[in-house]
Amino acid sequence: MSATGMWVEKYRPTKLSEIVNQTEVIGSLEALIKDPTDMPHLMFSGSAGVGKTTTALCLAHQILGENYSMNSVLELNASDERGIGMVREKVKKFSKWSGFAEIPFKIIILDEADEMTSDAQTALRRVIEETAKFCRFIFIANNISKIIDPIQSRCAKFKFTTISEEDIIGRLEEITKKEKVKSDKKGLKAIYDHSEGDLRHAINLMQATASLGGITEDNVKSSAGLTKTSDVDDVLKIALSGKVPEAREKMIELIKVYGMSESDFLKYLNAAVFKSKQPHLSEILQVIAKYDYRILVGANSEIQLSAMLAELSNLK
Ligand SMILES: Nc1ncnc2c1ncn2[C@@H]1O[C@H](COP(=O)(O)OP(=O)(O)OP(=O)(O)O)[C@@H](O)[C@H]1O
Ligand SMILES: [Mg+2]
Repeated sequence: MSATGMWVEKYRPTKLSEIVNQTEVIGSLEALIKDPTDMPHLMFSGSAGVGKTTTALCLAHQILGENYSMNSVLELNASDERGIGMVREKVKKFSKWSGFAEIPFKIIILDEADEMTSDAQTALRRVIEETAKFCRFIFIANNISKIIDPIQSRCAKFKFTTISEEDIIGRLEEITKKEKVKSDKKGLKAIYDHSEGDLRHAINLMQATASLGGITEDNVKSSAGLTKTSDVDDVLKIALSGKVPEAREKMIELIKVYGMSESDFLKYLNAAVFKSKQPHLSEILQVIAKYDYRILVGANSEIQLSAMLAELSNLK
């Protein structure tokens, strides 16, 4: 499925007022941007799929209006490099130039800031000070304790909560109406139970379930198990056929968008090997085991999994 066909993107709020559940956070932010010149740097924290990135983007759009562009907003996320080079190259370069008169300040959104090295964070601290006049930072982190104190102390902090049953189901119902999908109460409740307060996960699961005909408890149960494992089966098939970039893209979608953990991915992959009766059974299993171990001892999992797919593609 392409990103444009995904309901999580189609129904991503574009205004602060459309964001559900985070009422306290949104209320304070709306008050702050009445006169944005006084806005401090911000730090958003909280678990996955609760609206942090969406809120940062809405906020930037509402502050900058039609001046929102690549020149006024720098958005860095996990797919970018996280080291000190990134701070020097991208952040410093972007923040140097004072922007244009129509906007109160330029905005730098550092998504998944807790993945930054401590060297990079220390370097950033200086940049924050030097550019205070014309740049505001929005840091986003799942785990705020990985952000150094000097950065934390320069920000107003906002904690996003997991989303309540009522709000998740409410949002799902809105989407079912717009998509003209049949649903019943038990089906929606089953999605909520799987989602653990993660609205992205809930919407993705609902979209997968809708393709089975409607949102019933039984359909939710089968799609919750099915989507994951059958997609991993596909990744294996694509990798073995030699299409590494395609396999990698699908794998990243499973991990980043659907929130599958790397270890679950490898577990399902291992199962997929047996299901698909591969001629190179033992080689494939050894490749999987090798990368499983490397990830366990702390190597970068995205790099390792990509290398694993490349190695699988070479088995002929
Ligand atoms: N509070 C919310 N209100 C409305 N939609 C939401 C909310 N939270 C999440 N969503 C839906 O889930 C998708 C993902 O949300 P978002 O990217 O903001 O999550 P996040 O908190 O940044 O998660 P992560 O920590 O994984 O980056 C959005 O596109 C939107 O469809
Ligand atoms: Mg995010």
